[in-house]
Amino acid sequence: MMLTIDPLRWGGALALCGSYLAMCLAIWRARMARSNGKAGGIAAPADWLVVYASQTGSAEYLAQRTAATLTLGGLDARAACISDLDPGLLGAAGRILFICSTYGEGDAPDTAARFAGKIMGESHDLSHLHYAVLALGDSSYANYCGFGRALDAWLAGRGATPLFGRIDVDRGAPAALAEWQHQLSRLAGTSDAPDWEAPAYGDWRIAARTRLNPGSAGAPLYRLALAPADGALPVWEAGDLAQVSAPGDPDHPREYSIASVPAEGRLELLVRLQQREDGSPGAASGWLCAGAGDADTIRLRIRAHQRFRLDGNAGRPLIAIGNGSGLAGLRALIKARIDAGARDNWLLFGERNRAHDFLCREELGQWLGDGALARLDLAFSRDQEAPCYVQHLLREQAGMLRAWVADGAAIYVCGSLQGMAGGVHDALVELLGRQQVGDLLADGRYRRDVY
Ligand SMILES: Cc1cc2nc3c(=O)[nH]c(=O)nc-3n(C[C@H](O)[C@H](O)[C@H](O)COP(=O)(O)OP(=O)(O)OC[C@H]3O[C@@H](n4cnc5c(N)ncnc54)[C@H](O)[C@@H]3O)c2cc1C
Ligand SMILES: Cc1cc2nc3c(=O)[nH]c(=O)nc-3n(C[C@H](O)[C@H](O)[C@H](O)COP(=O)(O)O)c2cc1C
Repeated sequence: MMLTIDPLRWGGALALCGSYLAMCLAIWRARMARSNGKAGGIAAPADWLVVYASQTGSAEYLAQRTAATLTLGGLDARAACISDLDPGLLGAAGRILFICSTYGEGDAPDTAARFAGKIMGESHDLSHLHYAVLALGDSSYANYCGFGRALDAWLAGRGATPLFGRIDVDRGAPAALAEWQHQLSRLAGTSDAPDWEAPAYGDWRIAARTRLNPGSAGAPLYRLALAPADGALPVWEAGDLAQVSAPGDPDHPREYSIASVPAEGRLELLVRLQQREDGSPGAASGWLCAGAGDADTIRLRIRAHQRFRLDGNAGRPLIAIGNGSGLAGLRALIKARIDAGARDNWLLFGERNRAHDFLCREELGQWLGDGALARLDLAFSRDQEAPCYVQHLLREQAGMLRAWVADGAAIYVCGSLQGMAGGVHDALVELLGRQQVGDLLADGRYRRDVY
């Protein structure tokens, strides 16, 4: 009998054995670290917490990678959302690595609202705690890494000891992330932490591009259908984001809320064509809405946006609130629920003029007609003398809002941070009370994808 060697199968088997041995080694090192109280030369507690405060998932992703790197180095590490960090856990934890982004105008992300608003206002003694902060931000904002800085100052002010100085990451800058990885290797006593490569872009083509608001007083808004160049549609969930790397600014990808679900066979975006002060088009929106043709390659990758998925809310009534291009994320969520047979979907949507800005009018009308949308409330701000926005619709429908929330509804908000998201938040606080809004946020029943 002739023995044939299939290199792929052998390679796979060897890789499997290698992974298994690496896993055993990691578990053994973690156990030794715990029993000795030492790992890689530094005192190691039984548990390292990697706490993330994330809005769109970058900090969460880096926290998972951080915990995995520490675990590979033999430490007992686990990633946790900052919303789970209560005073008890804070008092018991010996080592915490914080990874946090900044939102709004120097604010904490939504998941950190309670921590920032309550716990950081209290006087805890944290002299038992060793910590480090990786602050994610964007230096084009006035309050660069505002929440990371505030958290760092608060921890130090409460007596906690930094393991090393805060590292600020400007728009995912690789050098800052490499510095963080270097510090992790030092903590874990390893010199071989694998590089964290960002997921690769795929090549896509524009299959269709339609202007949704001809004649609008606002900037043009397009519905784009994109198809993968190799024909294989990747998997995503309603709520996820697409990152586009534009030729004019390839190192700074732009995020777009995905408007379709995979069952529709195409990836759709709603993109507003931005214009810069000098009249030139925005780097990414200009490329997607005007610059790129059918034959051009669009470099795009999908980013799981855990916080904006339906997840545990899939079975709850949905209140979807938004404006402008924010309809993208809301449409995907509503479509996913319709496909799953849910009809208790309520959309509150705002734009400028009914005549030009009633986006996806036919589809929404059809959904309403066949009962897939239980309610559709529209606010066209410029169709009457006094401006009317989605937050006004909420006030008009206060009874209905309270009834839906009492019935277990989840609230999803997508669109402009300026004006809309703040106005909606204030209306919710006014109508439901601060306590209930805080509870909805903490329970993941109030989620936002605002920009
Ligand atoms: C989570 C998330 C989801 C999003 N979803 C959507 C969506 O579904 N649809 C959508 O349309 N957008 C969405 N956005 C916004 C989108 O990511 C981009 O920010 C937007 O398209 C503008 O990018 P751009 O490259 O076209 O413009 P840029 O080139 O970045 O310019 C944008 C603005 O910045 C200023 N600017 C930047 N550079 C200059 C310069 N050199 N000179 C002068 N001014 C400058 C101008 O005011 C300009 O209007 C989302 C953003 C986030 C964070
Ligand atoms: C609407 C919006 C507001 C932001 N505000 C700030 C800010 O005030 N200061 C800052 O440094 N970064 C700001 N950022 C940048 C984010 O902190 C940065 O993109 C971060 O990597 C996001 O991480 P996350 O995905 O974990 O939320 C803002 C980003 C967005 C989209």
